Amino acid sequence: MASYSINVNGKTHNVDVLPDTPLLWVLRDSLGLVGTKYGCGIAQCGACTVHVNGTAARSCSLPISAVGKNSITTIEGLSEKGDHPVQQAWMEVDVPQCGYCQAGQIMNAAALLAKTPSPTEDQIATAMNGNICRCGTYHRIKEAIVIASSKMK
Ligand code: FES
Ligand code: FES
Repeated sequence: MASYSINVNGKTHNVDVLPDTPLLWVLRDSLGLVGTKYGCGIAQCGACTVHVNGTAARSCSLPISAVGKNSITTIEGLSEKGDHPVQQAWMEVDVPQCGYCQAGQIMNAAALLAKTPSPTEDQIATAMNGNICRCGTYHRIKEAIVIASSKMK
C-alpha cells in the first residue's frame, strides 16, 4: 500500500492503495464516485472517461501512481447542478438508452467542446469514435453535441 493525495472535483482526497491501482477503482471504491463506469478495463470502450486537467482520459488505464497533482474531474464534478450545456443537451435529446456508457460519452463530449467549441461533423466523429455504446445511441449523441455546441456560443 502507498498513500496518495489526489485532486478530484476540486477537493483533495487522501487514499491508501497499491501504486498500480487504476484511478477508476480509486474513484469508485475509495471515493464512492460511481458515476464513472467500468466497461472493458483496457482503454477500449470509453465508459470510464474522466478529465485530467480538462482532457479526456481513460481512468481504467491510469494508475493512481501517475495521477500526481493533476486535476481530475468526474461526471459528478462536471457541473454543480447537472446543468453543463452538454448535460442539458443530453436531456433535451433524451440520449441514453440503458445509460451505462453515457457518463463517459458526456465527459468525452465536454472535453471536445472545451477545446473545439464548434466542431465539424468529422471532428465530432473522430473525437467520439472510441466511446462505445452497445445500445447504439450514436445518432442522438451527435445531435446532442451539436446542440451543446450552440448553447456554449
Ligand atoms: S473501462 Fe476504460 S476504456 Fe473501457
Ligand atoms: S446507452 Fe446503453 S450502452 Fe450506451
